[in-house]
Amino acid sequence: MNMVFLNGKLVPAEQASVSVLDRGFIFGDGVYELVPVYSRVPFRIDEHLARLERSLGETRIPNPYSRAQWRGHINRLIDAQPFEDQGVYFQVTRGIAKRDHAFPKNIEPTVFMMSNPLVNPPREQVEKGASAVSAADNRWLRCDIKSISLIGNVLLRELSAQAGAAETILFRDGTLTEASASNVFIVKDGVIRSPAKSNLILPGITYDVIVELAAAAKLPLRFEDVTEAQVRGADEVWVSSSSKEVLAIVELDGKRIGDGKPGPVFRRMYDLYQDFKKKVMRAAKRESVSA
Ligand SMILES: Cc1ncc(COP(=O)(O)O)c(C=O)c1O
Repeated sequence: MNMVFLNGKLVPAEQASVSVLDRGFIFGDGVYELVPVYSRVPFRIDEHLARLERSLGETRIPNPYSRAQWRGHINRLIDAQPFEDQGVYFQVTRGIAKRDHAFPKNIEPTVFMMSNPLVNPPREQVEKGASAVSAADNRWLRCDIKSISLIGNVLLRELSAQAGAAETILFRDGTLTEASASNVFIVKDGVIRSPAKSNLILPGITYDVIVELAAAAKLPLRFEDVTEAQVRGADEVWVSSSSKEVLAIVELDGKRIGDGKPGPVFRRMYDLYQDFKKKVMRAAKRESVSA
């Protein structure tokens, strides 16, 4: 039975239902997170919860739970699944009210969580790299909020899906922002570059891990504006997200990036990322044994 979480309770998915007047359904008025779980240990859970708190604050949706309560609910959902590696999705909407754009008074937010088997890029894609297409970033100007109103991202992702590509890389006025569901890094002459955090990109949890790993390994990394020409002329292009981890893009709009293979800096970062994941998981297991 596929167990999901709805407003404080674990229930079989078939029995979970939400009102048609929920503002998530009517307006896309809600925020969400997706946390990767390895061997039943959620990865970077505090960082995901901090980002959720920020998204809730920016949208003025009351946070129904403390950090400890969120962790407890998430762990119970993880324990209720038969598989080890999971992607836990959770969303909070403003709640149920008669349709009116303005915030309703005295309503409770709706909290929904589900967990699916985690799908990381297959080995072959990691080794050979993936392709992407590009598009103009026509989304709203608050891409820093992890909003469930994803129609902009959905339409942009569909462009690459139609082309059989893994991602759509986005440019706003000729400058790189991110991709439809991931952050983007380039490498030129051994230097990793990525746009600085702003209202135009989601502050990725994986982006932060990559930045930390680069600093620890003394790989030069700069936050700076990256032009469309710099992306196309880069030695390497990577995308990052909780499910993609770090993935090399070797073809953009049908043209090769660099020599058309995942580059040496990517391979180094991929290995650092895998080692880091294992280290974090081992530490979490030790903590749970000694607790
Ligand atoms: C638009 C967008 N940018 C970036 C990311 C990467 O964020 P994270 O590394 O926290 O998964 C995502 C992930 O879903 C996303 O949807």
